[in-house]
Amino acid sequence: HLPHLLRSVHRTYSTIPYSADNGKRLAALAAIRECFPSIPPKLVGIGSGSTIVHLVQAIQALPPAQIKTTTFIPTSYQSLQLLLDNNLRVSSIDHVQGDLDIVFDGCDQVDPERNCVKGGGGCLLLEKVVAVRGGRFVVVADHTKEVPQLSGTVPVEVIPLAAAYVLEKLGGRVRQGAPGKLGPVVTDQGGFIIDVPWVDGMGVKEMAERLKNTVGVVEHGIFWEGDRRAERVYVAGPEGVKSF
Ligand code: 5RP
Repeated sequence: HLPHLLRSVHRTYSTIPYSADNGKRLAALAAIRECFPSIPPKLVGIGSGSTIVHLVQAIQALPPAQIKTTTFIPTSYQSLQLLLDNNLRVSSIDHVQGDLDIVFDGCDQVDPERNCVKGGGGCLLLEKVVAVRGGRFVVVADHTKEVPQLSGTVPVEVIPLAAAYVLEKLGGRVRQGAPGKLGPVVTDQGGFIIDVPWVDGMGVKEMAERLKNTVGVVEHGIFWEGDRRAERVYVAGPEGVKSF
């Protein structure tokens, strides 16, 4: 059953005209409603990005008893700050023994097999380190993220001194900071992000292995069955929220 507060939040947002941002909120509410363990979980991983802001708000609307004993594991300084601002208890993934009960995250693309491309916010490395330790890995998205096939570019985190080599091998561009901010984006782990073009016609496995096998690449943003594919995906669109 929907806790009372969550139900009223959902009712309020269901009446607002659909937008991608409202979709993120509705999908986050549905994911928390259906997947947040009813027996208070010990450890919950929290991804990064704008969708996750809505997800943490949905967690805040749960009955306090359901999260009283839960420790949340962030995947970036952004999600650490978000959790602290919401007075939720936090720890770090390197202090965790065993699996997390569940991990929630957003994505940039998701295909019908629940493979994802992530890293639009530059946090893919820690997101993957946390996702592979999730007992469950649940992805939340608005309809713009759902694609028949992963394509476009894949964010890849590289060691800065290897960036030139990786560019030569894989192509793409080193992601630059916001306009007015000179130089590349530097990740929370001190890496650079290269947005590598998906090779036309290449399958998920082949592309993931191609990226992983390039010297200087620390991690890539394809979350697939070889490392961590989403177990459940919640996607909101103008017609409502669906999961698969
Ligand atoms: C960050 C990510 C995000 O989950 C992804 O970019 C989606 O972001 P948003 O929720 O802001 O649309 O992978 O590295």
